[in-house]
Amino acid sequence: MYFKQILDERCGCASYLIASRQSHEAAIVDPAIETQQYEELLGERDFRLRYLIDTHMHADHVSGARRLSAMHGAELCLHASARLAYPFRPLTDGEELPLGQLRLRVLHTPGHRLELISILVVNPPRSPEPSMVLTGDSLLVGDMGRPDFGGGDAAQQYETLSRLLQLPDWVAVFPGHFEGPCGKGMCGRPNTTIGFERLYNPLARLDRTTFISTLLDGVPARPLNMTAIEATNRGLAEMPWAMLTSSPPVREVDIEALETREPDAVVLDVREPEEYAHGHVPGAVSVPQADLASRLDEVPRDRPLILICQRGIRSLRAAQFLVQMGIDRVVSVRGGTAAWGKAGKPLAVGDTDAEKPRVAESEWTHAGARSSYRI
Ligand SMILES: [Fe+2]
Repeated sequence: MYFKQILDERCGCASYLIASRQSHEAAIVDPAIETQQYEELLGERDFRLRYLIDTHMHADHVSGARRLSAMHGAELCLHASARLAYPFRPLTDGEELPLGQLRLRVLHTPGHRLELISILVVNPPRSPEPSMVLTGDSLLVGDMGRPDFGGGDAAQQYETLSRLLQLPDWVAVFPGHFEGPCGKGMCGRPNTTIGFERLYNPLARLDRTTFISTLLDGVPARPLNMTAIEATNRGLAEMPWAMLTSSPPVREVDIEALETREPDAVVLDVREPEEYAHGHVPGAVSVPQADLASRLDEVPRDRPLILICQRGIRSLRAAQFLVQMGIDRVVSVRGGTAAWGKAGKPLAVGDTDAEKPRVAESEWTHAGARSSYRI
């Protein structure tokens, strides 16, 4: 067999190319929108693409599956419960896709989303047992996928974890993410084993009730351009440009520059509405990063833009996206609203009953290296 994990550092996603070296048939799981990398691999090895499998309908990156499927005449496969506006081969639990001597066995593992499947890779000439499992956003390394993207369910995620942990110890686990906003406690390794996760995944030790509350508490902000990405992956819109595929340098400014900004500058707060309601820089306009691409026509192109979030990472990515879209009078506030508040500057507050925002943030829930320059 041939097996390759392809990591996308910008969004923290992993995709996979699996092939039979005997029959030269190949399958790609969770392909990124930049499809040239797969074309090169297929060409170099003279593989024929037979299946494109999306483990689920992604919210954080535009899938390259439809494009590849059309170009290669390969079957586009998702779980039967996926609600999409285009045709696909509906998979069911226990079904096996033959790939030369290999078998790709479908395991329905809902929780992150209802339609999420894992793929067990079985190589019968070597062993009747699976040697690896591709888990999408169910079991991650040291974590589980978040259940709040719509169609997810924390209790189902608990059942899914229990089911996956019944696999033999030696089964290698290859997740859909190693960083990024689909989880909040990923270890950073790109793979693990069932045995290791059974022993050391912090969620594996929890009873059902504690598991559910832990999974639901303190989730990362919704991904950049999620609204547009989801609509595209569903086939309801064609916005593949909503994916941040470049890393243009963006100037970062301090809160002093924000305070003394030009009078015509527009401050865009890209945090979640609940974070904005809990305190924002006076005059800042709320455009959550998840909605940025779908609300792009509200972003003025003829005025300087100052993007701000909680700590300066989301705003940097959002600013990079605006630069990618040809809007270049844009800067990001280093340290974000947290730095503004810490400096004792006034915050405006909106309507909210909650004590504190639910959003948890760490550098790794954003994925990728920083790309900025300082003034
Ligand atoms: Fe996902």
